Formats: sequence, C-alpha cells, structure tokens
Amino acid sequence: MYSETGDSGVLRLTDRPVPEPGPGEVRVRVVRSGVNPTDWKARRGALRHPEAVPNQDGAGVVDATGPGVTGVAPGDRVWLWEAAWGRPDGTAQEYVVLPERQVVPLPDGASFDLGASLGIPALTAHRCLTVREGGPDRLAPGALDGRTVLVAGGAGAVGNAAIQLARWAGATVVTTVSGPEKAALARAAGAHHVINYRIGDPAAEIRAVAPEGADIVVEVAPAPNAALDAAVTAPQGVVAVYSTDGGNDVTLSVWELFTRNIRYQFVLVYTVPEAAKDAAVADVRAAVEAGALRAGEEAGLPLHHFPLERTADAHDAVQSGVVGKVLVDVAPE
Ligand SMILES: NC(=O)c1ccc[n+]([C@@H]2O[C@H](COP(=O)([O-])OP(=O)(O)OC[C@H]3O[C@@H](n4cnc5c(N)ncnc54)[C@H](OP(=O)(O)O)[C@@H]3O)[C@@H](O)[C@H]2O)c1
Repeated sequence: MYSETGDSGVLRLTDRPVPEPGPGEVRVRVVRSGVNPTDWKARRGALRHPEAVPNQDGAGVVDATGPGVTGVAPGDRVWLWEAAWGRPDGTAQEYVVLPERQVVPLPDGASFDLGASLGIPALTAHRCLTVREGGPDRLAPGALDGRTVLVAGGAGAVGNAAIQLARWAGATVVTTVSGPEKAALARAAGAHHVINYRIGDPAAEIRAVAPEGADIVVEVAPAPNAALDAAVTAPQGVVAVYSTDGGNDVTLSVWELFTRNIRYQFVLVYTVPEAAKDAAVADVRAAVEAGALRAGEEAGLPLHHFPLERTADAHDAVQSGVVGKVLVDVAPE
C-alpha cells in the first residue's frame, strides 16, 4: 500500500485487517495481481485515499460472499477487474472485497496468470473492437468475419489482447511492431500479417495485405501514427485511440478522413458506458471459456513474476516498458 504518492519507493508491505463483504460484495483471496501502466501512473499521481493498495487486475479464489450475491460462491476461481478504480483497495494484497459485478468466474482450464492479465488489457481491446459504425457491438466467433483490424503495437499488453480477440471474432488481423522479437510475439498472438513500422513504407505494406484498408484501427500511438492511420483506414472505418504514446496532440488530415467518413473514437476503459462494459466482461469471459484468450510467451505475452514484497520492482518493470505481462504472486495457488 501507499499513503503518499511518488516513485515506487512509496510502496510498503503492511498488515491490515481482513475486510468483511457487505451486501452484494465478494471477498476474494488473491493469488495473482496483474500490473498495468495505469497502476504506476496512479501511484505517481494525486493521492485519492489516505491509504491505497495498488493494481486494478487480479485473480484468485472466492473466500466469502455478502448477502445477495448469487453469481459466485466460496471456492470459485475468479478474475477481477478495476479493483482500485474509485476505491482504495486494489489487488496487491491477500484479500480484497469487491462488488460482485467485478468478480468473474474463471474456468478450470484457465490459469490465474491469465485471469490476472485480462481486466485492463482485454476490456480496453474489446471496447476498441466494438466502436465501429455498423458494428459489431459484441464479440463472438464470426462477429468480425470479413473485417480487417489493424493493431498498432501488437506486442503490447493491450495489443496482444486485441489480436487474440479479433482473431476469435473472425477478423483478418494486421499489426505493427518495432522489431523482429516483437514480430514473433505478435505472430504467436495470432496476427496474420506483421509489419515493422520503423522500416520501409508501412502504409504500402499494410495496403498490400489489406487493399481495402483496415475497418478498425486499435491505436496506442495516435500522434506519430496519424498519417499512417489516415492512409490505411477503410471508408466508414474507425480509429480507436486508447493511449497517447508518442505524444498527446494529434494533427489530422481532415479532408483525407471526412471524404471516407472515418470516425475517431477515444477509449478510456474506466469510463466506458456501463452496458458496453458489461458486454465486454461477458464477451471476454466467453473468449476465456473458449480457450481463445491465452497468456504466456506461446500466446505472445511473456510473463514476469514478482513476489508481493517486490511489488515496487513489478511497478518499475512495467514503467520501464518490459515486454509482456508483469504479475505479482500474492499467495500460493
Ligand atoms: N485508455 C485506456 O483505457 C488504456 C487502457 C490500457 C492501457 N492504456 C495505455 O496504453 C498504453 C499501452 O499499454 P500496454 O499495457 O499495452 O503497454 P505495453 O505492453 O508497454 O505496450 C505498448 C506498446 O505500444 C507500442 N508502441 C509504441 N509506440 C508505437 C507506435 N508508434 N506504433 C506502434 N506501436 C507502438 C510499443 O512497442 P514499440 O515501442 O516497440 O513499438 C509497445 O509494444 C499505456 O500508455 C497505457 O497507460 C490505456
């Protein structure tokens, strides 16, 4: 936890009382806590609670339920999303109490590593893939049949989830990366076409494999990629922007975009409308049950484990841009 914000040195390991679940709430014994860039950014930002436990994502086992909980029971394996959004209690602790809505069953075949890798990346990717005019607004096998999805940065955590979800939904998936190691990861995630955006003419290479252009662009770096996106987005397509990597201010070629009725959609996972968020959770759950979402190097997402007492190192690893997924081992399985 931390009671002042700043660099990772503000994180302290302390003993706290085990919280009781209230009506509609679930207490989870956390096994794995997933780390995302948002977790170190929040730790560095304004202090919103006198004491804050970091990390939005996690996975574990239901330990107790409050009155009115019907969807999960003690002993169930579950994954958790947005544990620390608007609340002081994230997943980097042994027990966390959350509203039932944020506690999702994890099938037996799915690891806690996968469960703790889902929340922020998969729900963000789902939103990006469901904001095109004309749909789809849900993901399932066939939902993106005949569509082309361009994922900028396919070796990133969100990029990896976008590739896997888009493949599950039937899209042709093109992705950009900065070098050969990331290319191998993007291919392992399931991308059909992987293009190095740092060499040659990436727009021409994308057009060569997707002559009609990309119906959906999942964009991590809207400023440096503005010209590329304008060159390769299909008519009625959408550029779904979820980050500001490479710069916050974007210069757009309006003529190029409005002649094709291209839409820019901005995505912040926390403020996605409730119905869309519920749909995303349900679809991600279905993808996990189908075995379509995976974690680990063989799925293009190398895992990096840290013990709970080294949560600060886990945050620093994410901040330094480690490739793959950083996980905190909170308790034995
Ligand atoms: N809006 C939201 O709700 C939301 C949700 C999740 C994450 N985010 C933000 O999104 C960013 C990425 O998160 P993450 O967890 O996926 O991080 P990550 O695992 O570090 O991935 C970021 C990826 O972006 C790639 N990238 C950077 N510049 C690029 C460019 N010009 N073209 C193509 N790829 C580029 C990087 O690879 P190379 O540099 O090697 O190309 C890297 O693979 C973070 O800033 C995070 O805070 C926002």
